[in-house]
Amino acid sequence: MSNSCCCPGTEPARPTPEEIAGILRRALAVPGLIDAGDSAVIFHDLSFMVSRCQAIQGVFPTNALHTLAVKANPLAGVLRRAVASGMGLEAASLAELHLALASGAPPARIAFDSPVKTSEELAFALGQGVHINADSLEELARIADLPQLRESASVIGLRINPQVGFGAIAQTSVAAGYSKFGVPLHEKRREIIAAFTRYPWLRGLHVHIGSQGCPLSLLVKGIKTVFTFAEEINEQMAASESSAWTDKQLEVFDIGGGLPVCYRDDQPPVTVARYANSLYETIPELFTDNWRIMSEFGRFVQANAGWVVSRIEYVKKGATSTIAVHVGADLFLRRCYRPDDWHHDLFITDASGHIKTGRQQPYVVAGPLCFAGDMLARRVNLPTAQAGDFLIVRDAGAYTLSMWSRYNSRQIPKVIACDGDSFTLLRRRESLKEVLAFWG
Ligand SMILES: Cc1ncc(COP(=O)(O)O)c(C=O)c1O
Repeated sequence: MSNSCCCPGTEPARPTPEEIAGILRRALAVPGLIDAGDSAVIFHDLSFMVSRCQAIQGVFPTNALHTLAVKANPLAGVLRRAVASGMGLEAASLAELHLALASGAPPARIAFDSPVKTSEELAFALGQGVHINADSLEELARIADLPQLRESASVIGLRINPQVGFGAIAQTSVAAGYSKFGVPLHEKRREIIAAFTRYPWLRGLHVHIGSQGCPLSLLVKGIKTVFTFAEEINEQMAASESSAWTDKQLEVFDIGGGLPVCYRDDQPPVTVARYANSLYETIPELFTDNWRIMSEFGRFVQANAGWVVSRIEYVKKGATSTIAVHVGADLFLRRCYRPDDWHHDLFITDASGHIKTGRQQPYVVAGPLCFAGDMLARRVNLPTAQAGDFLIVRDAGAYTLSMWSRYNSRQIPKVIACDGDSFTLLRRRESLKEVLAFWG
């Protein structure tokens, strides 16, 4: 029977500046929520996040297992809410695996994907019964030797690099001819099939093409390449006398994450409904009951859900004036180090949270860290800014706090969740004592 595809789902568009400013004004009115020590605050809209999760759940077959990539935003309150909305979690390190377990996700709904798992980590994961995606043939051999494998409820898959090429951002493209991830399909075809013959417990294939910058066509091409190979493996298994399995061995197909996200108003958003439709048209067999789809979206769910508000501390007058704010490369590592690849829209409000309009002028927006490249914008047109206004950095919910840099020992800002009309604290502002303790 076919799991039909795809109802359009409801995909909220990224929050507008008006919506963000409205939330800021409401937050400023809550006594004690934002205080004078909060030179910067991170907001995360949990209801927006949940609607993105529901959009994913709505366009794939009902038996699919959707895991959310912890690395995109590992805040415990964020993970707990995602799990409560029916998501599993994808963990890329032992600590992320513990975060996933602590968030209440059932082990069978957690994928452990670290590319450098130690024997101890693998033994722990097998003992917990989480899904494990091995990154290499060498890792499979290590799993095979672990006594915990025998009693384990874990489903085990193998990550394949389909070698379909780069997206627009080389640093986050992982399916080119060479990648540090996965087993390269073209070179290792025979060895991969031999692994399925040797290891009857190997039940899944995993593919992740890349993150932002990978067009849908590349994602679909990579998945189709690996899926065609998966069907070939199953045919060979069925025909193989040496295999302990005469029936279908391979039934879990993990399509990874990587759905690009809209960071600019003039960029048409990619919808998960379009993605699922494109997969359905190209690989209809994947959507039947013969297969269980897994996914590992991160950015698509989290990026637009978050934004950062920083007090403008100074406006330093010059040929091009500089707006000095309290977040820079500590929170926006990619933006500051690779400005041509990564972008965030900015706007400013006055001290009471009303959007500033009027004649614009060019500004540099500089962070607080001690190096010249610590800039959120090298040139951006904004209305006249003054000290005490707020700068808002949009689409900051993914790969920002999770990439926090300790350089210059700045305190991690408070994180406030907005959820419908209510606010809760996801993380309090880091204290000076905690920063000092970090350094021993
Ligand atoms: C294996 C794997 N799965 C999922 C993701 C999440 O990707 P994205 O946040 O682009 O959806 C990543 C990102 O690096 C990844 O490496």
